[in-house]
Amino acid sequence: MHNLAVFASGTGSNFEAIADACADGRLDARVALMVCDKPGAAVIAKAESRGIQTFVFNPKSYPSKAAYETEIVRLLNDAGVELICLAGYMRIIGDVLLKAYEGRIINIHPSLLPAFKGAHAVEDALAYGVKVLGVTIHYVNSELDGGRIIAQKAYEFDGDDAEEAHRIGHEIEHQLYVETIAKLIK
Ligand code: GAR
Repeated sequence: MHNLAVFASGTGSNFEAIADACADGRLDARVALMVCDKPGAAVIAKAESRGIQTFVFNPKSYPSKAAYETEIVRLLNDAGVELICLAGYMRIIGDVLLKAYEGRIINIHPSLLPAFKGAHAVEDALAYGVKVLGVTIHYVNSELDGGRIIAQKAYEFDGDDAEEAHRIGHEIEHQLYVETIAKLIK
């Protein structure tokens, strides 16, 4: 049984997909800690209703990124976390966390990286007029949506309906994230 941490800032549908896969045995793992940098985010209630330990913090109440990451590393160590899965965590990981969990932090991003980095990847891709969208899972380094690619999945999309693109993209994300974590912890 492996201990995972999931970091999220918003809705938490990828968090749910991972937690569900742990609960029904598709992943030989448990979510030992959910970290959220947005007090009030929907993901918090989702973690609490599953009895998953949460660490919710406001970055502004800390003097620096190093200060809150030091606190996070302490909690990760206490929980025996082996792999950190960023799932819509909209914050660059700093040196403290990168050093403590080098090679053990992964992220999911809703584009075929290196195209369309950032917080509005689907909208940016649609505005560009691309006909193939996709999802990437990659190791995390100090750059925004940077780091070695682990898995990608593309889907054809013709049009400009961002809501529909997000719906299809999320379905792919949930499946690809669980499959990729399963391979990494094997
Ligand atoms: C996901 O689509 C994820 O790929 C994206 O945030 C969304 C979170 O959704 N991440 C990024 O854009 C990272 N740059 P969720 O809260 O429903 O899992």
